Order: sequence, then C-alpha cells, then structure tokens
Amino acid sequence: MEITNVMEYEKIAKEKLPKMVYDYYASGAEDQWTLQENRNAFSRILFRPRILIDVSKIDVSTTVLGFNISMPIMIAPTAMQKMAHPDGELATARATSAAGTIMTLSSWATCSVEEVASTGPGIRFFQLYVYKDRNVVIQLVKRAEEAGFKAIALTVDTPRLGRRESDIKNRFALPRGLTLKNFEGLDLGKIDKTNDSGLASYVAGQVDQSLSWKDIKWLQSITSLPILVKGVITAEDARIAVEYGAAGIIVSNHGARQLDYVPATIVALEEVVKAVEGRIPVFLDGGVRRGTDVFKALALGASGVFVSSFIIYT
Ligand code: LAC
Repeated sequence: MEITNVMEYEKIAKEKLPKMVYDYYASGAEDQWTLQENRNAFSRILFRPRILIDVSKIDVSTTVLGFNISMPIMIAPTAMQKMAHPDGELATARATSAAGTIMTLSSWATCSVEEVASTGPGIRFFQLYVYKDRNVVIQLVKRAEEAGFKAIALTVDTPRLGRRESDIKNRFALPRGLTLKNFEGLDLGKIDKTNDSGLASYVAGQVDQSLSWKDIKWLQSITSLPILVKGVITAEDARIAVEYGAAGIIVSNHGARQLDYVPATIVALEEVVKAVEGRIPVFLDGGVRRGTDVFKALALGASGVFVSSFIIYT
C-alpha cells in the first residue's frame, strides 16, 4: 500500500501488531473524548493565507534550547517500542538523527539510555518519571547526563495512570523477553500481568504521587540539565513553571491518555503562550498529524511540536 499520510500508518499498525500492543499505543483514557478532541480542535482552525509572498527559498530549520534542528518537529517519548519492532528505540534514535531533529527517550523505554547513545551522535532529551525511591531517579538522571542527553522532560500529569479501558481488558503486560531497560537489575524493569492494566499497577506501586512544585527545585539540585515541564495545560501552571525555573513547557495532555475531558492541546496552547509572555519556549504535543497542524501550532505561539513515533514492520 502506498502511504500518503501519517494517519494511514494507524491502519497498518492495526493489521501488523498484536491486539494488546496496538490497543496500548492507540488508546486514550476513559471515553477518549480528549483523544478525538486533540484532532478535532486542529480541524476547527482555518488559515487566512496571504498571497504573492516570495516563497522560492524556504528554511524550516529552528533552534530548541540552543540546539539547531532541521525542522520544528521533534520526537515525543513513546514507551516500550520493542513491542512494535525488535530494534525499538534504537531505530527511532537512528531515524531521528538522520532527520536532523531531537528524540525524547521515555523512562520506560525497552532500550537503555546507554544503548540509545551508542547508536551515534544525536540531540536527545530524556523523559523522566519520578519514582518513590528517589535514589533510582538520581542514578537515572546521572546516567542520562553521562550518555549525553541534553535535557530532562519531566512528566507531571501521571501521579496515577489514566484509566485506559482496553489495557484493563487486555491485562496489559510487557511481552516476554522485554524489560524497561533503564531499570534492569533494579527489579523495576518488569511490567507483570495483574488483574488490571499491568502498567497501571506498576505506576501505582512505583511512581511518586507526592510529586509537587518543590520537586522541580530538587531536580535542579541533582542535575544541571535544563528541565522541560511536560503536561502543562493551564495559564496558572504555566506561570508557576516559569517561576520555578523551567527551561520550557510542553503543552501536553499525554496524548489524551491521562485525564479525559481536558481541552485539546492546540486549544490549551493559547492560554499557556499568553501566560508565559515569551520568557521560556512553549512546545506542544498531541494530535499532530500533518504539516498544517505544525503550522497552526507555530502560528499560535509554539516554538516547536513533538510527535509520537516508533518503528513497525510494514
Ligand atoms: C503511557 C505512559 C507510559 O502513556 O507514558 O503509556
């Protein structure tokens, strides 16, 4: 099949991937209202194109946290990519470098920070979940720094995992042979089968529900890397993030996988951009499928977007 747009990959993924794996990647939380809305909100925004502008020379390259990249499109963290292809995050790292942009590696990757770094040069950010055991976090952040990662994207919307009903029905667990590679040897690398979504049980057991703004300061005390706060969707929180010294904000509703009935990110972007008043860059993820979506986000004040990406066999 000839692929002409990103949406068509979803159909291929549905055909190729085991149901449990496809459902995990594809699902939003509960009614999946926000999942639909992330797309629908983009489709409500129309252009007012001006004409007769010389566009014979176009440069879409940009700078993010001082790094030059080929386009304002970066790779968002997507967990457990070896479920989709044996090369997992390594393939994504190679593809992202070849495209000249930034990859964000999930804490819950099936390849470690060191393995990803070994694929060759590339600008990489590390997405962080804060564990109850802060020593685990300290070690992990240090390893990411040593592996050459350039920023921490701190996820702030997951004190509990969103209620994803297909994961519950499928009793989601990490397939045999795969581990959360960053935690191998720590006994935190497995996602076992439970009577719930195994990932929901894992989050309930390991992720620190007490995480609060003061922990941004704590994180700054253990790393010199810039910290992007990922999961801000209100003006109030955007202002606090600036006060706490965030290097940037990622307007994200976690791909609609956490709290359902929150606005689409392209809707939330406007109030965040206004509140930040240009003091730090604002990025967006969620629902981006086309170049026109990227343009809409930039036009509304984003400095770039993140798209979720992983490799499958076609
Ligand atoms: C998820 C977590 C792992 O959305 O970020 O599944």
